[in-house]
Amino acid sequence: MSPSNNATAPWPAEAPAPPPFVFDDGAAYELMIGRWSALVAQPFLDWLALPHGLAWLDDGCGDGSFTQSLVLHRHPASVVGVDPAPAQLNFARQRVATASVRFMEGDAQALPLPDASVDAAVMALVLFFLPDPPQGVRELVRVVKAGGTIAAYHWDLAGGGFPLQPILDAVHAEGYRSQPPPSAWTATLQASEHLWQNAGLSDVQTRQFEVSRAFESFDEYWRTAHGSPRLRELFATLSSTAMQRLRACARERIGSAEDGPLVLKAKANGVKGVKRWGAAIRQGLASLETPLSHLPFPRDTDRAAADHGACFSSPRQAPIATALPRRHRRRAAPRRGAASSHPSPPPAF
Ligand SMILES: C[S@@+](CC[C@H](N)C(=O)[O-])C[C@H]1O[C@@H](n2cnc3c(N)ncnc32)[C@H](O)[C@@H]1O
Repeated sequence: MSPSNNATAPWPAEAPAPPPFVFDDGAAYELMIGRWSALVAQPFLDWLALPHGLAWLDDGCGDGSFTQSLVLHRHPASVVGVDPAPAQLNFARQRVATASVRFMEGDAQALPLPDASVDAAVMALVLFFLPDPPQGVRELVRVVKAGGTIAAYHWDLAGGGFPLQPILDAVHAEGYRSQPPPSAWTATLQASEHLWQNAGLSDVQTRQFEVSRAFESFDEYWRTAHGSPRLRELFATLSSTAMQRLRACARERIGSAEDGPLVLKAKANGVKGVKRWGAAIRQGLASLETPLSHLPFPRDTDRAAADHGACFSSPRQAPIATALPRRHRRRAAPRRGAASSHPSPPPAF
C-alpha cells in the first residue's frame, strides 16, 4: 500500500469514529505494554502509600500486569479485576492464580460490582480507552467505600510518553494514519486532576512517572509493536518493502543501531484522590453531572489536540525524557462554577 498524499494526519477529527480497540492477544499485549505497565506500577503503588490487606478493584485489568504488582507489593485481602476482553482475562487468570484474586468480564462504565464494595480502585492505562471517561470515574466513586482511594495512571500521550511513540511517529512520517484512543485528552495531568476534582474527590494529587525498559536489540522492540491491535491491522496491509522502510524509519528516529541493546523511556501521568464521607459524597456525585465542556479539553476538540500531540511531536528520540514544565504539573482546584478559570489546553508539542 502506498501512502496517499493527504494521509499524513493520523486520524482526522472530522472522520467517523473508528471501531473500538480490541485486545485479543494477552501474550502479545504483555510484550507490548504489560511489561511497561509493571515498571510504572511499583512507584505508583509506593506513591499511593496504602496499607496491606485492603480490598482492591483493578479496573481494566487487562492481562493482569498491574494486578500482579498489586499482589506482590500490597498483599491485598482481595482483588477484583474487571476487563471486557476475554483474551486478556484468560492471560490474567493464568498469571495471577491466587484465591484472593478473581477476574470478571465487565465494562468500567457499568461495573459489575455493588456500591461501596472495595477499599481502593485503580485504572491502569485504561481511562483513555473509555468512550465516556467521567462515567468511568463515577463508577469508581460508586464502588469504593467512603474514605477509600481512587487512582489511575495513563501514558503521557501529549508529551510523547507512550512507549511505542517512535513507531507511531514513523507511521505518520511514512504517510499512514493511526488511530488514537477515543479519550486521549484524559491523559494529561491537568485533565486527570479536573476529572478527579469534578468527581467530588478530596486530596487530589497528580504525579508523573518516568520509566526505562531495556531491549536486547531494536528488533525486540520493533516486534512488540505487533501486539498493538491497530498497528497490526496497518502492518497487515503493507508490502514487505513498505514494512522495511517503516522499520528503518522507526529505528532512525530512535537513533538505534541495527544490533545491540537499547534502553527506551516512557512517561505515565498518575492521579489519586479520596472518596469523601456523607454529604460531601452527595455533593461530589452531583458535581459529576458537570458538563464535559467544564473540563479543560472539550470533547469536540480533544481528538484533534491528541492527534497533534501524538503525531508530529517527537524529535528523533524515543519516548521523551523531558519533564513537563512545572506550571503544568499541578493546578489549584478550580472554583466551583468558574469555568473560565480552567487551564487552557497544553501547548502543541
Ligand atoms: C492498555 S490495557 C491496560 C491493562 C492493564 N491495566 C495494564 O496495566 O497493563 C487497556 C485495557 O483496558 C481494557 N478496556 C478497554 N475498554 C474498557 C472498558 N470500557 N472497561 C474496562 N476496561 C476496558 C482493554 O480491554 C485493555 O485490557
